[in-house]
Parts: sequence; C-alpha cells; structure tokens
Amino acid sequence: MNYMSVKEAAKKWGLNERRVRFLCQQNRIEGAYKEGKSYKIPCSAKKPLDLRSNKMVLKEVKVDQIDFTTFRKKYPDVNGYFGSYGGSFVDKDLRKAFNEVYKGYLTICKSAKFINELRQIRRDFQGRPTPIYHCERLSNYLGKVQIYLKREDLNHTGSHKLNHCMGEALLAKHLGKKKLIAETGAGSHGVAVATAAAYFGLECEIHMGAVDIEKQLSNVKRMQILGAKIIPVYEGTKTLKEAVDSAFAAYAKDQKKSFYCMGSVVGPHPFPLMVRDFQEIIGREARKQFIEMTGELPDIVSACVGGGSNSIGIFSAFLGDPVKIVGIEALGKGKEIGQNASSITYGKEGVLHGFKTILLQNEDGSVADATSIASGLDYPGIGPEHAFLHSIGRIDYETISDDEAAEAFFLLSRLEGIIPALESAHAVAYAIKCARTMHSGSILINLSGRGDKDIDYMIEHYGEKYNII
Ligand SMILES: Cc1ncc(COP(=O)(O)O)c(C=O)c1O
Repeated sequence: MNYMSVKEAAKKWGLNERRVRFLCQQNRIEGAYKEGKSYKIPCSAKKPLDLRSNKMVLKEVKVDQIDFTTFRKKYPDVNGYFGSYGGSFVDKDLRKAFNEVYKGYLTICKSAKFINELRQIRRDFQGRPTPIYHCERLSNYLGKVQIYLKREDLNHTGSHKLNHCMGEALLAKHLGKKKLIAETGAGSHGVAVATAAAYFGLECEIHMGAVDIEKQLSNVKRMQILGAKIIPVYEGTKTLKEAVDSAFAAYAKDQKKSFYCMGSVVGPHPFPLMVRDFQEIIGREARKQFIEMTGELPDIVSACVGGGSNSIGIFSAFLGDPVKIVGIEALGKGKEIGQNASSITYGKEGVLHGFKTILLQNEDGSVADATSIASGLDYPGIGPEHAFLHSIGRIDYETISDDEAAEAFFLLSRLEGIIPALESAHAVAYAIKCARTMHSGSILINLSGRGDKDIDYMIEHYGEKYNII
C-alpha cells in the first residue's frame, strides 16, 4: 500500500496539518498509523467527514437571543446585574468603598499604562501564557476521546488565582492603598494575594477558617513566608463562608487604607465583573492555543466551580462557539443539603455576602453548610454570572463526588505525571466520566491548580486505597 505524510494529506484535503494529526490521533482516518513521531496515511484514505456540524451540542434554548460577541460589554449592567443575579447588597459605607473600586476599575484598569504593566507582569512574573497539554496516555487509557488541559497549575504560585490577584493588587497600588485584605479557602487565593502583596510592597491580612488551616497547612506556611498575617476563623463550619464574613468585617473597619482582594467572581459589584475580566486571559489564550494545536475547537470545555473564577475565565472565550460548556460542582458526600457544595444543582435564589445568586439553603431558608473534599469548592453560593448563564441554558452544571475526584487525582498523577489540585481533579473526573462513554471528540479541561497542597490530606485519607504506606 502507498502511504502519504501528514503534510501531503493536509495539502490533498485542504486541511491544516495539526488537524490531520488530530484526526489520526482520534483514529478517524482509516488505515493511518504512527511510525516514530509521525503518522503514515494510506494514499487511498478518504478525507474524514467534519463531524462538528452533527455534533452541535448547544441546547435549543434562549441562547440565540444573546449576542455573545458583545456579552462581556453588556453584562453585568452598571449596577452589577447579570439578568436578575448580582447587584450590591451592602451598607452605605461599604457601598461607598466599592464604588471607589468600581470607578478605579473603569478608569485606571482601562488605561494603556495599567494594561501594559499587567501584560508585563503576566509575562515576566507569572510565566504566561500557560500551555495546553494533550493527555495522550490518559486519553488512550480511557478510550477514543482526547483530553487536553489548560495548565493553570503552571501559573506562578501554582493556580489561576494569581491572574486576578495581580490585577487587583495593581489597582490597589494605583489607588494608593497600603494593605490587602482577603479570605481564602484552599489557600490558593491566600498565597496569590500574599505573593501580590510582596511584589507590590503592601501589607497583607488573610482570613481563613480553622478547618481549612489544618487541611491546607502547606499553603498557610507559604503565606507566612511571603509575609502575610493569617487570621484564623473559628465561627460556624470554620471554612470559606465564615472566612469571607470575617474578612468583610475587617475590611469595613479599615477600608480607607485597605483594598479587598476578592477570591472569586462573587461578592458585591464590581467584584464579579472585575475578577471575571482579570481571569478572561485563560480562555483567550486557551481558545487560540487549542485551534493552533488541533485545527478545530474542542467539543467540550469544562472546569471546576467553587465561586466560579477559573471556570468563567476559560468559559468566557467559548460562549459564542458551538461548544458544550460544563461547570463542575462538588457533590461532596452526597445529594443531601449539608453534604455537598453543588449550589446550582441543589440551591435556590438568595442573597449572601452582598450579592444575589443561587445558594444552598436549609428548609428554613438559612444558608446551608457546604461540604467538599476540596476546600476551594466548599462555598454555598456561586458567582452571579454563572447563575445567569445557567438560567439561560448556555452552561450546563454537573456534579462530581469526593471519591470520583480522588480517583481522578491519582489517575492523572500516575498516567501523566501531573498532580492536580483537588478542586481541579473534579473537572478531570468529569472528563474521565465522559471519555468512558463518548466514542470520539475532544475535551478541554481547565487545570486550575496543582496538588502539592493536597498531598498530606490525600495520603492520610486515601493512601491505603492507592497503595501508599
Ligand atoms: C486550585 C483551585 N481551583 C479552583 C478553585 C475554586 O475557585 P474558583 O471557582 O473561583 O475558580 C480554588 C479555590 O480556592 C482553587 O484553589
């Protein structure tokens, strides 16, 4: 039989070489095989059909009413609303402080000076762009679906959080503030804020639940090395929700001198807008890189959702594309309220931490406890933009349990040499679930962070099951 190279096939079929390689990887070219690093393609092979048009996975919903090319400009509105979600439910003093932040954001952050400064920080300090990685061994192990990772774990400090923290801290510096105040759950946000404070020479105060302090001790030590003061929070479940309450109270007393560094696309206006815009770099890079690598768009884009910053960061670039977008919520130990952190799946409308969204609630309407193996996901609410995009049917939300996330944590570690953060492992687990049932296609996962912080916890709780003494 006569064979042609990828280059020859690409020329013959009028396709990009990357796309031909991608089709070979997916076994979509009959008789093609890999020899060394390149593919041999039978000269008689037919040009594979473009299945994309058959795979339009967008539901027939109201999405058509929204022009996603202008979505970011129109949402939120000037009062911070995404449809009926968002807004600002805070007292007069805090509203005044957050208005100052909003004004600063609209003027300072849009200036060429700010944009250039941030661009340089992202390149030289953060190490952006982060790459996209094709998980060849994991994909082959699972079947025919190709799994790709956007490597936010390779962003400086090991998670996506630094993307918005450097932006927020740069704005704080321009506003003449001397101190950063923030909450943290898994500690990734805390480490990023402490890093930004050190970079800009600002004081730093991080509020963290006592349970999370114990669970994520390595991140607590990192924050202390970076010069941050840790304020332990002993109220309620001693996790993220109470840490936010405590940090807000501290900020209310110290707002003239301080800047609040929100850890996700949550909180009162303008934080969901501002954090989304600083995180949008993930999707912008990922979309371009994925097309360059494969010649097409992914079939599915997915990411874990705590408050929703890493997910909105990657999703925002794909909203207008014929791509299925799936946010992954933590199912924790089960469906019962109190056992999980699946706000969209099991929640109802309500107000928390100064904004309107979908919240986990008890029967009496009080905010329910959120539970997850991943400290960064156990928040009882979700960013208002997610609530809105869910309400119009543009984004689907699925759940992954603690044990499924743990399985993904070890599978990715052992097949690809990448130890994911437990938060990110939820999205990897979703890709694994899909790959076990789908016959072809590609899934792009935002790997929001690396798992160093979770090692002690995982060995203690899952070591025996995964043969670690
Ligand atoms: C690595 C990592 N991924 C994801 C999250 C969840 O946050 P978000 O939904 O804002 O991305 C966290 C939160 O701490 C985190 O540390």
